[in-house]
Amino acid sequence: MAIERTLAIIKPDAVGRGLTGEILSRIHKAGFQIVAIKSMRLTRKQAEGFYAVHRERGFFGELTEFMSSGKVVVLALEAEGAIAKWRETMGATDPAKAAPGTIRRDLGTSIGNNCTHGSDAPDTAAFELSYFFAGHELL
Ligand code: RTP
Ligand code: MG
Repeated sequence: MAIERTLAIIKPDAVGRGLTGEILSRIHKAGFQIVAIKSMRLTRKQAEGFYAVHRERGFFGELTEFMSSGKVVVLALEAEGAIAKWRETMGATDPAKAAPGTIRRDLGTSIGNNCTHGSDAPDTAAFELSYFFAGHELL
């Protein structure tokens, strides 16, 4: 399997509950390299641009309000098969359906407050990495 990069976000629910360190520890234990990391608060517009693919979905307003409600930690992660590997580490979108030992099962509280984001394919990973990081930050 090839070395890949993926975009991860520790969402406002997790940052607000003091879970950043726990999630970074799980990232290290799973074998990812952190290529870049930043703490920031998204504006509503920035959240809407990031989730533009979901703009027709019923949960778009709720999702973008939540994602701009507090600080997030944004990471560029690298590993063999990083995109699928990070989604496995996070678990299913709904914490109630996520496998035991995953971040969302162990730490998430609802489908909206599910602690982390991960890119879902090579093209979305490329878009999402460039949305948050300049080329010189990803060397
Ligand atoms: P993410 O993009 O955040 O990594 O999550 P995902 O791929 O597992 O799920 P996706 O379908 O892309 O949905 C993006 C985020 O929207 C929220 N959501 N709410 N209320 C709902 O029915 C609902 N469905 C999705 C979740 O927080 C999900 O992570
Ligand atoms: Mg998604």
